[in-house]
Amino acid sequence: MLVNDHYLKLQAGYLFPEIARRVSEFSQQNPDARVIKLGIGDVTEPLPPAIVDAMRRAVEDLGTREGFHGYGPEQGYQWLREKIVANEYAPRGARVEADEVFVSDGSKCDTANILDILATGPGGIDVALVDPVYPVYRDTNVMAGNTGPADESGSYEGLELLPATADNDFVAPLPKQPVDVVYLCYPNNPTGATITRDRLAEWVAWAREHEALLLFDAAYEAYVTDESLPRSIYEIEGAREVAIEFRSFSKKAGFTGVRCAWTVVPHDLVGKASDGERVALHGLWNRRHGTKFNGASYISQRGAEAVYSDAGAEQVASMNAFYLENARRVREAVEGIGLRVYGGRHCPYVWVKVPEGATSWDFFERLLQEAHIVATPGNGFGAAGEGYIRLSAFNSRENVDEATRRLERALS
Ligand code: MLT
Repeated sequence: MLVNDHYLKLQAGYLFPEIARRVSEFSQQNPDARVIKLGIGDVTEPLPPAIVDAMRRAVEDLGTREGFHGYGPEQGYQWLREKIVANEYAPRGARVEADEVFVSDGSKCDTANILDILATGPGGIDVALVDPVYPVYRDTNVMAGNTGPADESGSYEGLELLPATADNDFVAPLPKQPVDVVYLCYPNNPTGATITRDRLAEWVAWAREHEALLLFDAAYEAYVTDESLPRSIYEIEGAREVAIEFRSFSKKAGFTGVRCAWTVVPHDLVGKASDGERVALHGLWNRRHGTKFNGASYISQRGAEAVYSDAGAEQVASMNAFYLENARRVREAVEGIGLRVYGGRHCPYVWVKVPEGATSWDFFERLLQEAHIVATPGNGFGAAGEGYIRLSAFNSRENVDEATRRLERALS
């Protein structure tokens, strides 16, 4: 029995389990330490009441003969797809049709599964990633055989890296060589950077010119408070022909434990088969979804629908404002200590330059040992993240304030 060799090229563990392992080791050795986790971006606030009520009603539906639902449509219930279009796209002048919205149980899996419909392995697509990057994009390309082995910096042969650094405001430069697929994530995980309409329009123009595909992850768009910044790539003219967009209720509405997301595959998006035939990606993704997925749960879709009720929208907005206020407190505390800080304005992540001479993991360990705070080492997101750590603003106010006091004590 042969295994998928490409998995053997992957570096150690996936980033977050590796952090969890180190933290659990620390906690075993220091059982009295109260560790505050600003590592993985996982929401902490209770679900808004309007969403809880909707899900409670959905559970009750399932317990009655009239309201019972078995398998739903794999692509998501029509009522949710229409609400997504009416609330997320139409008001921003972005043309998206309800049947282009594919509801799922998460963007992590969608950004990974999208490779199913592209030509992977030798002779397949050439991929460019922004560095640093959400590790799922990188690791799933390794798994699919789109790369060679990693070098000592952790970069994989065959993946073009687009360094996003302080010098370019953490916005990826256009690729130097032609590639077929580029992953973009704005507001950005991990740097917290945003992209302007003009910069995003440059990317769309580049993709049109090179017949490339943009995989646009907008999981954090709910944190954009500047109306001039794009929240969807479809706000940019011409994007329907070159972009797939991933969106999620996880960070938008506190759904990390509920699970509901969506992916938009526009009808206008066309790729090529190996014989040159032009093929619409919508049909391929629809086929994949229908074959490999049985739909997100009725309960989570009813919860997602409630995000767009008057009460739900107001409660969600106030939860997002709460996390942004956390981000502001973290950002200002770290700035006050004298470290360079980026992000944390339209994104719940604060990207911190570690003190001169330290590596990301050194600083991770220092924060853990001296302040009992868990951060995410920047190099876990790619070589260009070396020398940074990411602090997540997803936490209770009490923990955030305690964390800022501890940071000040440990680092001042
Ligand atoms: C993160 O911390 O980067 C995210 O929580 C990971 C995710 O959304 O899967």
